[in-house]
Amino acid sequence: MDIEKVNSMDFGEFVDVFGNVIERCPVVAAAVWSQRPFSDADDLERHFSAFLDALPVAGQEGILRCHPDLAGRELQLGTLTAESQREQSGAGLTRLGADERLQLAELNAQYRARFGFPFVLAARLSDRAALPRELARRLQCPPEQELRTALGEVKKICRLRLADLLGRDPAPR
Ligand code: GUN
Repeated sequence: MDIEKVNSMDFGEFVDVFGNVIERCPVVAAAVWSQRPFSDADDLERHFSAFLDALPVAGQEGILRCHPDLAGRELQLGTLTAESQREQSGAGLTRLGADERLQLAELNAQYRARFGFPFVLAARLSDRAALPRELARRLQCPPEQELRTALGEVKKICRLRLADLLGRDPAPR
């Protein structure tokens, strides 16, 4: 899909197509639509990022809270969004043993209790071995730093999902 096609979309089509580049937060795409026309794919991505950066802390925490746990109950139940399902499967999270699942469930619960939002990580850039290590490491971080890290992961997920939709190779960052 090229940028002219994106710029030609009406509100409904734009939100249908880009509504889940920020997990379960179509309001972000709804706001970004008003910023068109976009000069290119990077410009589109910058508008999604800028919206997140401009939110008050409560809004940023709200965005994080819309994310399901990695390897959590929704993966078991099959109720994830298509994007999250693909990302979690790709990271090997559908093939965990019972011990690994239990370990992640405990770490996810500790993380949520400490920070008040779920652990978010760009799963496509990680794997089932790195995930518990990274979760345990980030559990030790100060809350203000962790909010910034988690929001950075939301932006990475957004960049990868946009690249899929636009048929581009995501530039490493
Ligand atoms: N990383 C990629 N997708 C997701 C998701 O849906 N939830 C969390 N917590 N992290 C992710």
